[in-house]
Amino acid sequence: MARLLAQRMDKLGTETAFEVLAKAKALEKQGRNIIHLEIGEPDFDTPNNIKDAAVKALKAGYTHYVPAAGIPELRTAIAEYLSKSRGITVDPDEVVVTPGAKPIIFYSILACVEPGDEVMYPNPGFPIYESMVNFLGAKPVPMPLKEENNFAIDNDDTANKITKKTKLIILNSPENPTGGVLTKDNLEVIADRIKGRDDVLVLTDEVYSQIIYEGKHQSIASLPGMKDKTILLDGFSKTYAMTGWRLGYAAMRKDLAQKVAQLMINSNSCTCAFTQMAGAEALRGPQDEAKKFVEEFRKRREVIVNGLNKINGITCKMPHGAFYVFPNVKSFGIQSKKLADQILQDGGVAVLSGTAFGAFGEGYLRLSFANSIENINKAVERISELVKKL
Ligand SMILES: Cc1ncc(COP(=O)(O)O)c(C=O)c1O
Repeated sequence: MARLLAQRMDKLGTETAFEVLAKAKALEKQGRNIIHLEIGEPDFDTPNNIKDAAVKALKAGYTHYVPAAGIPELRTAIAEYLSKSRGITVDPDEVVVTPGAKPIIFYSILACVEPGDEVMYPNPGFPIYESMVNFLGAKPVPMPLKEENNFAIDNDDTANKITKKTKLIILNSPENPTGGVLTKDNLEVIADRIKGRDDVLVLTDEVYSQIIYEGKHQSIASLPGMKDKTILLDGFSKTYAMTGWRLGYAAMRKDLAQKVAQLMINSNSCTCAFTQMAGAEALRGPQDEAKKFVEEFRKRREVIVNGLNKINGITCKMPHGAFYVFPNVKSFGIQSKKLADQILQDGGVAVLSGTAFGAFGEGYLRLSFANSIENINKAVERISELVKKL
């Protein structure tokens, strides 16, 4: 029988969080009470100044097509923000605005990676990296993130894995799912290893750059000689609780930015006009709400880590950034996926298996603490009761 789907579709992965959410919703429909710790989005409302800017833009007629790379006002605001926060000089022409940060992952790999090229990426890591690399026929080269390294990359292993075939190195700090943060040392090893090579790029996913609990965020783009080798991805979803607005961006060399904008023309035409104006307000307006979000996450982080560590058989490291914990559940001797299913079905808490983020996530679960302290305490209690029965 003739195939309907292209073969490449067999290689396309997914983001399991959405599947678990659907399962949890189905249980709720049956009358069950479920605590949601599966989905990666802040539970706060978007700050009012940002909403007001969107309404104002709508009324002012920002309801038509706009330039594919983004409205100049927003590109300028982003260039200023990145220049200031990363200590580099970013020109508005080097910025591309997209509907969420996610398309940047797709476009960067599509624009730069040929079938057979090697792409390094964190594992456990955001599943879309591996999915896209496989989809486009490139060779995925995982960089394992280990608990004993505080879920940062291993310098020697990373240096050894950079070969002549390496085309792209994907970094994510603070990291989803582990909450790990890359050290300056990690970044320097990579920068040093690709010095003098103009055939390698780094895609640095910094969507959690503002959600950091100790020290200051460091970007590989800030290291000497690295700016032109880096695609710096960031967005509005996590910092400003704007997941549903679909607004993200990246800074990269101008020639590359033009190619990524061309991919935008071929796919989306442009990013929604009035949300872009709201994005400019998010970056230029008051930052107190965004700071409050981080302080609230900081409190919840303590509660969830302390709670999980009190459960017999679970150990949980304190995450340095983002709003996830990645507890070790190896002592139960059950596959993470099975345990996550059981915690949802029998315990009423939606969590993700560590393996939803790649093979190196076996033995771990991912819990998001973007939920109230009351619900986090209840979830810990439920998990504690459930694992007693294992
Ligand atoms: C590491 C990482 N990168 C990118 C994204 C995509 O964010 P956006 O909502 O801006 O597309 C996410 C969302 O969960 C993420 O965790």
